[in-house]
Amino acid sequence: MSWPYSLLFNSAFRRMDPERAHELAFSLIERAGKVPVLRDVVQGAVAPYLGQRSGGPGSVRLFGRVVPAPFGLAGGFDKNARAVRGLTMLGFGFIEIGTVTAHAQPGNEKPRMWRELDVRGVRNRMGFNNEGAAAAADRLRALRSTATGRAIVVGANIGKTKVTPPEEAAADYATSARLLAPWADYLVVNVSSPNTPGLRDLQATESLRPILQAVRAAADEANATAAGGRRIPLLVKIAPDLADDDIDAVADLVLELGLDGVVAVNTTIGHDRGPGGLSGPPLLGRGIEVVARLRERLGTGPVIIGVGGITRADDVRAYLRAGADLTQGYTSFVYEGPLWASRINRALTRSAGSTASGRYE
Ligand SMILES: Cc1cc2nc3c(=O)[nH]c(=O)nc-3n(C[C@H](O)[C@H](O)[C@H](O)COP(=O)(O)O)c2cc1C
Repeated sequence: MSWPYSLLFNSAFRRMDPERAHELAFSLIERAGKVPVLRDVVQGAVAPYLGQRSGGPGSVRLFGRVVPAPFGLAGGFDKNARAVRGLTMLGFGFIEIGTVTAHAQPGNEKPRMWRELDVRGVRNRMGFNNEGAAAAADRLRALRSTATGRAIVVGANIGKTKVTPPEEAAADYATSARLLAPWADYLVVNVSSPNTPGLRDLQATESLRPILQAVRAAADEANATAAGGRRIPLLVKIAPDLADDDIDAVADLVLELGLDGVVAVNTTIGHDRGPGGLSGPPLLGRGIEVVARLRERLGTGPVIIGVGGITRADDVRAYLRAGADLTQGYTSFVYEGPLWASRINRALTRSAGSTASGRYE
């Protein structure tokens, strides 16, 4: 943590309710991102590597795009695609919006987010509070109407609406996929958040198969008319709490269905700190282990996005060595401050070449 942020964190944020602090920081980022001159100056100063969209050192060719830097923002921070420009300005190599559900919903009752200061972690049971897939799609459509907005690599993470019964899950996911596929660079089917009752049961391959098939079909159908037939990459996001055999089963399903990859991992319920999923440094070891296991089983084809417990560039390097193509983070943003992503991506783009993946420039 740099000292100016450390001062701000200890004197202000730390004393505030965590969700309130998130909303405050979020609205500052959202608003700053809407002022073109400010945005360009900040981005030019903190994230010069983003200017090299045709592929500078450390960039990664994936999803038919050049991802300018390997560390991006994980799902859950910008659930409604409100601050994609502002977050990019701060140096994330790509942004995953969501989780978005087919229908708008309020999420769980508050409080639903806690700091776990001793481990620099966060615990949450937000429950997919979001404005619904149509609202997020409208914002992404507006983003894509400008050249600078089109240049940003954006993933859309979709989940199940809470009130939708499990037997209608596939149709619920498909609704979101249809709305978002024309505007996103990749889709993530989230079946791993611990805060929607029964959601993680959908990771079982017999439940997951029909969902992924329905999402694939809906996305293809939408893009046939709205996006010139572009086939959007489809990934699935899994929990760190899956048994190793279940991780293998998901990997086998990815291969069977010709899916494009896996995002690993979501928050863990393997803790005794209270309700909700834990994120941050305690996840790092298991996250890397899951990525390594997936890479072994998947071979070189499918993409793996590694996420969980990343604080520094070395953590990203560990994920990349384990077989990830890209990485993401959320929790350490809270503790490290606004320059966090830029510090990591600057270090990675400086040391490019040592990160060894065929997809690296
Ligand atoms: C407050 C909070 C909300 C989250 N919401 C989502 C979400 O909506 N969808 C999702 O796929 N992951 C969500 N996550 C999980 C993160 O995307 C990530 O997988 C996890 O936190 C591990 O990364 P980290 O240790 O860098 O935070 C959330 C995490 C936090 C802390």
